Amino acid sequence: MSHKRVAILISGGGSNMVSLVDSMAGDHPARPCLVLANDPEAGGLKKAAARGIPTASIDHRPFKGDRAAFEAELLKPLEAAGPDIVCLAGFMRVLTGDFVSRFQGRMLNIHPSLLPKYKGLNTHARAIEAGDAEHGCSVHEVTAALDDGPILGQARVQIDANDTPEALAARVLVCEHKLYPAVLRRYASGDRTPVLLP
Ligand code: GAR
Repeated sequence: MSHKRVAILISGGGSNMVSLVDSMAGDHPARPCLVLANDPEAGGLKKAAARGIPTASIDHRPFKGDRAAFEAELLKPLEAAGPDIVCLAGFMRVLTGDFVSRFQGRMLNIHPSLLPKYKGLNTHARAIEAGDAEHGCSVHEVTAALDDGPILGQARVQIDANDTPEALAARVLVCEHKLYPAVLRRYASGDRTPVLLP
């Protein structure tokens, strides 16, 4: 059996990237082929390199105001790696419809909320502020609309009385590290049935 090739896009520490990479072993149907960042200082790049995975970075800052030019550069290492699946894992740049359409049906994202609630930023604070009883994370297929697209998995977390955004984010992150690998394994085997945790 030939493994599916997975490219992972990150912006920061890459803890979700690490959980994905470490899951792709043994009888897993996929293997990592590239970790790509929009920041040469992204902490996840070293973690990927330490695991023997090819890495690349395209600094988005010189392209301020020209998203298409940034994406043209981003595409070079990405297409060279020939991924079957692209995982956004804490990748904090908005992608254009043009870019997304190249990977339609094979690009996933993890978002720290129970989508369709709280698209965008500051999700943990917004869930607490709204008085929600629960929060969580979602993995979805990426479409041109931000934090939209078919949901492939969700994990739920209780919001406690006196919860803080930081404490809640930390508990959600633990769930992210379980959810994303579970979704990727299922997706890479051709099954798009949503994974519901716990
Ligand atoms: C994660 O919580 C991820 O869900 C979130 O950024 C964090 C990245 O952490 N993503 C988004 O907010 C996307 N809009 P990591 O670099 O340690 O994986």
